[in-house]
Amino acid sequence: MSVTQSQTFSVSVHPGHKRIKQITLDTSLVKNFLQDLEEFPVQRLENVPFMRFHVAHTLKKHFGEELIHLLRDTLRDRKTGGFTVGLDEQADNFEAQLKFATAISYSIGIANFDDMSGEYYAAFDVKHSYDSDTFLRKAYRTLELHTDGVFVNQVTDWLLMMKLIEENAEGGESRILHLDDWEEMGAFSNHPLASFNFKYSYAHRKSKNVTDIVYDSIFYNKDNHICMRYNDQCTFPETEAQAEYLKEIQESIEQSDGTISISLPVGQLIMLNNHFWLHGREPFKQNEKLFRRLMRQRGVFANKI
Ligand SMILES: [Fe+2]
Repeated sequence: MSVTQSQTFSVSVHPGHKRIKQITLDTSLVKNFLQDLEEFPVQRLENVPFMRFHVAHTLKKHFGEELIHLLRDTLRDRKTGGFTVGLDEQADNFEAQLKFATAISYSIGIANFDDMSGEYYAAFDVKHSYDSDTFLRKAYRTLELHTDGVFVNQVTDWLLMMKLIEENAEGGESRILHLDDWEEMGAFSNHPLASFNFKYSYAHRKSKNVTDIVYDSIFYNKDNHICMRYNDQCTFPETEAQAEYLKEIQESIEQSDGTISISLPVGQLIMLNNHFWLHGREPFKQNEKLFRRLMRQRGVFANKI
């Protein structure tokens, strides 16, 4: 395994996925970073957008430009497009988790408003019993592979998922698929329906809190690469042929050898390029005391200096 070493961090190939970079930060610098931000409560981040850039600035101050370039370049690089990084220090402390995750995401771009939470991030729980209309919180079934933001009139360049709490949880790993590892990407992206503008909407799911209706194609070209927007539950076909096409895509991605489960310890986050990575979740093993909380942020790349 090749390891790149800087004075403030090291990078290696993630043991769970050859395309994902595993970034390990110097522990004492993480401590300093968090100490530097001690006076800012989480509400400051929630209420004041410029504070989110300030925590990113603080990250750069402690870890250097090199780390920021690595984060940005990795996420845009078609060959990888994903990394993990996290906290050792205060790994289970929500204040530290949100500051750290925000420093990472705002080093890359700007988080979209999350309609489910009414904040720039969302933290959602998975428990034994659930009272939601979304599969996101249903523990014992597989969450199918999808990209984020399909049903909103807003670009979603990237997503970040951070493990906040995990108790009595077995299973529930993230399932991820890079489009270039999908054996049948060529066949489906060359299909006559690949450029058909499907209707996407989640207006029927109360919990999503979104009324947008989007018309767009499943496959598109970005930076000369095939990309995909895909979510089985919010796509509305109009014909049997379209429905079969969608069903075949679903079966093909779920069964692909490229679909790999990757586990995330508490305090660690994974960031993925949402244009060419699909993600989902393994089912959890039955346990009445199961409790897992995950944070998500989704957003756009920053193009301004
Ligand atoms: Fe998702």
